Amino acid sequence: MHIERNVSLKPFNTFGIDVPASHFVRITDLATLREALQAPGLPAPFVLSGGSNLLLTGPLQALVLYIDTKGREIVSQTPEQVVVRAMAGENWHELVLWTLEQGYGGLENLALIPGKAGTAPVQNIGAYGVEIKDVLQGLQAVEIGSGSLRYFDREACGFGYRNSVFKEAEKGRYIIWSIDLELTRNKHSVRTGYGDIAGELKAAGVLTPSPSDVARAVMSIRRRKLPDPADLGNSGSFFKNPVIDKAHFSKLRESFPDLPGYPQEEAGVKVPAGWLIEQLGFKGARRGDAGVHRNQALVLVNYGSASGAEIQALAQEIRAAVRERFAIEIEPEVNII
Ligand code: EPU
Repeated sequence: MHIERNVSLKPFNTFGIDVPASHFVRITDLATLREALQAPGLPAPFVLSGGSNLLLTGPLQALVLYIDTKGREIVSQTPEQVVVRAMAGENWHELVLWTLEQGYGGLENLALIPGKAGTAPVQNIGAYGVEIKDVLQGLQAVEIGSGSLRYFDREACGFGYRNSVFKEAEKGRYIIWSIDLELTRNKHSVRTGYGDIAGELKAAGVLTPSPSDVARAVMSIRRRKLPDPADLGNSGSFFKNPVIDKAHFSKLRESFPDLPGYPQEEAGVKVPAGWLIEQLGFKGARRGDAGVHRNQALVLVNYGSASGAEIQALAQEIRAAVRERFAIEIEPEVNII
């Protein structure tokens, strides 16, 4: 096991924030992970995966466990379905493309999401009407306290909107080691109902879309709206879309007749935080190198040398403005450390 000291985390977070970690170890196998977890005299562990949902606001006094495991395998299959197991360190989008190349359906709406396989379930990644919970059969996770592997089936993951037990009751207790995805080999049920997907497919002249056609449509929409972290530091949506109660929504509609709202099965109405932020004039706004993306107001960006604290200050400014104008509390989706 090789522990590095004072390592810059700039290449390891998609916001491109330059802060050092006091201790850093690359995890490529279970033996190294167990050794790192048991080694005496080291600071508390901090799990780092794709760094795509993370805002670092200061130096990290921690043992950074950089999850760099690789591997994909078929665990079981029937004529209709296949279960693919991916190691946590697999790049999510490359995994999606690989499943599509094999002719498997299920992940097409989740194309181009930054990050790695292992952290996808933590926040139940979702896009264009699909969440990972719709295809995840289960996962293996290493218990930090004991180093032992435990299997969580879908139910045990306690999924919600951008949420799971790994952000709630089990927070800080497990490291996701591999994930099992249940995909279709034929009779795919593509989902094209969300937003611009149907329009995008129509424009491309596709009448009966395959999973790959849907993925192409999703990728083209995302490339139009969302900045590529390789060009402009960002962490996708910075805030979650808030759910407000019906009475509050109706009242707001009197003053803002165009306010979009999506009634939720459980209760309340989900409103797009991007709309609220755009109304307040923040779209394209800039405070030094911290900014709000010009095509998607829910995405905060780093134009170069913004610090985590500067991005956090802009986020606070936005939260306060949304609270004042709409009486809505918007919560960050990104983990702020
Ligand atoms: N909107 C605006 N102005 C904006 C942005 C959005 O008015 O600048 C309004 C529009 O009314 C639009 C609606 O918001 O119709 C929804 O916008 P969009 O489809 O872009 O989705 P979103 O709600 O802003 C969510 C996810 C994204 C995901 C997209 C597509 C969250 C927090 N974000 O964004 O996920 O890609 O839907 O499904 O739920 C992420 O989590 O990092 C992420 C990018």
